[in-house]
Amino acid sequence: RKPVTVPQLRRMKADGARIVAVTAYDAGFAREIEAAGLDVVLVGDSLGMVVQGHASTLPVTVDDMAYHTACVARGLRTPLLMADLPFQADATPARALDAATRLLQAGAGMVKIEGAGPKLEVIRFLVEREIPVCAHLGLTPQSVLRLGGYKVQGREAAAAERLRADARAVAQAGAEALVLECVPTPLAAAITGELAIATIGIGAGADCDGQVLVLHDLLGLGARRPKFVKDFLGEGGSVRGAFAAYAEAVRGRRFPAAEHAYD
Ligand code: KIV
Ligand code: NA
Repeated sequence: RKPVTVPQLRRMKADGARIVAVTAYDAGFAREIEAAGLDVVLVGDSLGMVVQGHASTLPVTVDDMAYHTACVARGLRTPLLMADLPFQADATPARALDAATRLLQAGAGMVKIEGAGPKLEVIRFLVEREIPVCAHLGLTPQSVLRLGGYKVQGREAAAAERLRADARAVAQAGAEALVLECVPTPLAAAITGELAIATIGIGAGADCDGQVLVLHDLLGLGARRPKFVKDFLGEGGSVRGAFAAYAEAVRGRRFPAAEHAYD
């Protein structure tokens, strides 16, 4: 298999080929994901919670992200490697350029940025400087203090309309993909329908162009079990088998099922 490229995400959407993504934080898991044939690996700042044991993603630094991105890159050949800009590393275009450059030099092929509004200028700035950006809307965990918790977003008509406008705006600013986290299925479907770039959902229903899960959730680790999570370890029989079962379920449109989504 040839390495997955940024432009390929758009083509996969156009072809109706589901994009299968998972998070990873080290080379060992990256090798299993490589073997299972997934499309995208995200070094998420969720590492603050699932690896470092913090209560939120806010303590994660650019150093942390660069370290884990380099670890994952050593175990990966084919999937597109995406890395999160951590809390406030994207607060200004200049800071974002420094942080994103470090992540690309550590092996990432794309960086992910939460939010729209002031982040639109940051997205544009990076894209103009040859740094591919994936946007992230809906439940943006770096907004947890303002949101007051991890809740479904875009439920009311006005909030849904704002989210749709933000989705158009990040695409207009040059984002090459969009993660939608914890939004009602019809809203994610509407956004997916009106954008040419791929949407990758987590808790956003089955109509997104792709799906992403946190590694630990996919393997049934951890006490917290949000509705959108499925443990694929039982079905897969091994770590590699769990990744393969997840990929097969996404490509076969059996995951997420209605029980894993918000309506
Ligand atoms: O940090 C992360 O793992 C993420 C995914 C949940 C999309 O941003
Ligand atoms: Na993240």
